[in-house]
Amino acid sequence: MLITGGSGFLGKRLALALKDRYEIVLGARNNKQNALASQITGCTVIPLDVTSIESVRDAFRRYEPNLVIHAAATKFVDLAERQPLECIDVNVVGSENVVRVSIDSQAETVIGISTDKAAPPVRNTYGLSKALMERTFCSLNGTAETRFLCVRYGNVAWSTGSVLPIWKRMHESSGVIRTTGPEMRRFFFSVDEAVALVETAIDRSDEFAGRVLCREMRAAKIQDVLDTWIEMRGGSWERVEGRPGERTDEILIGDLELPYTRALEIGGLRHFVIAFNDRAPRPMASGLSTASAERLTPEEIKGLIAAEPSEE
Ligand SMILES: NC(=O)c1ccc[n+]([C@@H]2O[C@H](COP(=O)([O-])OP(=O)(O)OC[C@H]3O[C@@H](n4cnc5c(N)ncnc54)[C@H](OP(=O)(O)O)[C@@H]3O)[C@@H](O)[C@H]2O)c1
Repeated sequence: MLITGGSGFLGKRLALALKDRYEIVLGARNNKQNALASQITGCTVIPLDVTSIESVRDAFRRYEPNLVIHAAATKFVDLAERQPLECIDVNVVGSENVVRVSIDSQAETVIGISTDKAAPPVRNTYGLSKALMERTFCSLNGTAETRFLCVRYGNVAWSTGSVLPIWKRMHESSGVIRTTGPEMRRFFFSVDEAVALVETAIDRSDEFAGRVLCREMRAAKIQDVLDTWIEMRGGSWERVEGRPGERTDEILIGDLELPYTRALEIGGLRHFVIAFNDRAPRPMASGLSTASAERLTPEEIKGLIAAEPSEE
């Protein structure tokens, strides 16, 4: 199995969770992060730049992966607003390269990792780039031997560049957390929940090929997460100016997607399958956003904050 973006937060955790089932190769650009990923996971880690089709070809030629988890991405919303070309290069052209080489190499299954920011109405360049990845994967499924599908989810607690590690740095340096939106609501997953969703996609890739698989997520108001943080760790917070591309609420399944989305139970949990161009016989009645989603309890918020990974 090849995990693009394998040195990232998700990639390392996926490798640890799956290394007993698969021979795993992780690929990313930064050699320092690659060395760390190799040390943490014990897996083979190779230099890989998905923006270069030759780099992707080299990896496939050497390791002939049957299963590819495409997690490589640039995912900073405000950076993508200011530097859209880099975001398009990595998330759109990079995904295109992975798709092309996977088809040429007759890889069996390719799973793209997407985000709630790809759900309509898309608000930022990052979301647009991931929406294009979803569409590319789903449209090309069935055109060749390779099976393509995606998973889509919201914020993963403690992931690179997310609020908790940023707050931790601010808290350690000044005791004051500067936040752009206490009134914002966000979906939160633990990294184990994200890994479990990818595992479901792997195990049922035949059934969900050409689709985007989501799982019900619960949400929290940033103010509640802040208050819990301060209760647990002390300090204070202050409001700073918002960043480009941000929105108050996130959407996991947009209203436009409802006719094409069905809900199903997997392992006692509500999942959703979006098929962009196939109407669902029993479509979902209402979309899923952080405004309508069930809230995380104070204890669950505490659990997410306490689950600080040791290697970050
Ligand atoms: N974290 C979240 O809250 C969240 C939520 C929903 C979806 N996702 C998606 O989940 C995936 C993994 O996210 P993450 O949290 O693990 O992010 P991350 O920690 O930032 O990892 C991103 C990985 O992609 C690699 N990468 C970036 N550009 C690359 C390129 N051109 N070629 C090859 N590798 C490249 C990075 O390493 P180098 O920079 O060294 O190459 C890194 O290994 C992403 O696709 C993201 O969009 C994340």
